[in-house]
Amino acid sequence: MNTRAFVAGWASAVPDGRLTNADLEQRVDTTDAWIVERTGIRERRVASRDQTTASLAIEAGATAVKYAGLAPEAIDLLVLATATPEQPIPHTGAFVGEGIGVRCGSFDLGAGCAGFVYALVAGASMLTGGGLEHVLVIGAETLSRIVNPADRGTCILFGDAAAAMVLGRSDRPDAPGLLAWDLGCDGSATGLLEIRGGGSRMPTTPETVAAGEHWLRMQGQEVFRRAVRAVVDSGAATLEGAGVTAAEVDWFVPHQANLRIIDAARHRLGIPEERTVVNIERYGNTSAASIPLALAEAADDGRIRDGDLVLCSGFGAGMTWASALLRWGHP
Ligand code: UT7
Repeated sequence: MNTRAFVAGWASAVPDGRLTNADLEQRVDTTDAWIVERTGIRERRVASRDQTTASLAIEAGATAVKYAGLAPEAIDLLVLATATPEQPIPHTGAFVGEGIGVRCGSFDLGAGCAGFVYALVAGASMLTGGGLEHVLVIGAETLSRIVNPADRGTCILFGDAAAAMVLGRSDRPDAPGLLAWDLGCDGSATGLLEIRGGGSRMPTTPETVAAGEHWLRMQGQEVFRRAVRAVVDSGAATLEGAGVTAAEVDWFVPHQANLRIIDAARHRLGIPEERTVVNIERYGNTSAASIPLALAEAADDGRIRDGDLVLCSGFGAGMTWASALLRWGHP
């Protein structure tokens, strides 16, 4: 098949509220020096009371549609990746579709911090295989709502954001767009990063709330170890699938979870620091929003240019991993 999904427009939305390391020093037993050295994070954005996963997604999605030069009615499908949905029912895409002004099909996709790349692959595949013209793919999170403010192992890491991409369709065989991808999940490791309460396994009761089962829990060291391996293996498999070497990659856009994970992974993949997009110091880990946020920023400031080969790679709760190789630009 010669049809290809290309990135026709993009945008991001972040709350104005900032949570600095100095703020966190007042809340938990930590220091700015420890956080910077162990994670690379200096501050994160935090949603205000009236901001939600859907409101951030609507802002990013509507702007991306506008920048793609489209009216909302031109969108044929909305795929929204999130680990922090608006409500348990209905799905977040319903709120976002209404906010953007579309009546097309929509669904949420849960694959943790790998969610955006999963959504990109799903959206692109439905576009090329299903004859769609435009698909809106969004990663949106309000992790500040699920992080235990008293848990220094997690509260220092996560932030809130949304970012969106409009996929367009080209029938030219040499068109830019999604060239190769790799998705995976090792479900033997579900307990490493989880919220136990609130689902069918542990419905919410006063007891589960008292026990803090509605908060995110993470075994950081083990997630770290697996994350490096997942990004390297998945990134390498994607390059191999496309018949491309690491030396040909113009930009590596990894999930922004920890600067040490990013450095270790890019080093093993053979990609230099100057070709790696990093913004973790300003946003922390924004889960499904992290890769599109970094992509949007690097495309906006002119680092990523038309024709560039871009490797995205993420990993997260599940444990999931996902990589995508894109040729940036319009056909
Ligand atoms: O998006 C997907 C998933 N998330 C990730 O990818 C996160 C992966 N994991 C990590 O980024 C790291 O494991 C953390 C940043 C969470 C923790 O860093 P670490 O280097 O693995 O620290 P550690 O858990 O091995 O703890 C080292 C020490 C411990 O003290 P002792 O036992 O050596 O005395 C911790 O109690 O650091 C202590 N510690 C802290 N100290 C100050 C743990 N958290 C903090 C903190 N401030 N916030």
